[in-house]
Amino acid sequence: MMNDKAAPFDAAPVIQIQGLLKAYGSVEVLKGVSLTAPRGHVVSLIGSSGSGKSTLLRCCNLLENSQAGDIAFDGEPVRWKGQGAARVPADRAQMMRFRTNLSMVFQQFNLWSHMTILQNVMEAPLTVLREDRAAVESRARALLDKVGIADKCDAWPAQLSGGQQQRAAIARALCMQPKALLFDEPTSALDPELQQEVVRVIKDLAAEHRTMIIVTHDMRLAADVSDHVVFLHQGLIAEEGPPDRLFGAPQTDRLRQFLSASAAH
Ligand SMILES: Nc1ncnc2c1ncn2[C@@H]1O[C@H](COP(=O)(O)OP(=O)(O)OP(=O)(O)O)[C@@H](O)[C@H]1O
Ligand SMILES: [Mg+2]
Repeated sequence: MMNDKAAPFDAAPVIQIQGLLKAYGSVEVLKGVSLTAPRGHVVSLIGSSGSGKSTLLRCCNLLENSQAGDIAFDGEPVRWKGQGAARVPADRAQMMRFRTNLSMVFQQFNLWSHMTILQNVMEAPLTVLREDRAAVESRARALLDKVGIADKCDAWPAQLSGGQQQRAAIARALCMQPKALLFDEPTSALDPELQQEVVRVIKDLAAEHRTMIIVTHDMRLAADVSDHVVFLHQGLIAEEGPPDRLFGAPQTDRLRQFLSASAAH
């Protein structure tokens, strides 16, 4: 099933990555990757384990340094200082501003265990953005309602199922009012039935035209929500395009092999 949302194709890029190179020591993990997420579009990143998907997401929100290539948010390029292995963002204020505009959702939820669900969702807007508590609280409660766990505000993370914890993590990401959301395998730590509750939330976000990059091993999710699918293979984009073409008529042997191996699981 394809999504029927019509995101504008001339939408300005929220995230633009050009020729990104990333190595850990002598191991090259990203070998020149370019990726664009236009406003309101959903880009899925697929590929075998170790192909560099998580590394690309972490470089994108500047949690990891890359050695060459450009990254821009809303048309504003990251300013770097130094070269190669010594390259780092030059402007800490710019880095923090970019990072707060990109919220990340992880496979393992990463909720703070010593805070209630409501406190988890409110924490970053209060401490990082220094927003007014009452405004943050009403937004946090509305988001928990939106993801279907309004009744869990005062519960602790350990009292929630995995699917509920992941929905809380999505509410927490949204509460920062980011310009884009980055998901790293948001459903792969969950049992199949719990995956569906999270998939439903992600589909709702796609229907609202949120800008998202989603790393996933769930090909059905990628086919259903994406405007564009990128297949990463050994640190390079081996194939990319609209989901119906990538899944319906893959052009490369690599992608065909990957899809048949994924279908077998
Ligand atoms: N901190 C690190 N130090 C050294 N090598 C690393 C580090 N993080 C990742 N790598 C290596 O980089 C490569 C890409 O890893 P990455 O986690 O990006 O893959 P992935 O596509 O997300 O895989 P998976 O589907 O298993 O999550 C792997 O070979 C991995 O071993
Ligand atoms: Mg990964």
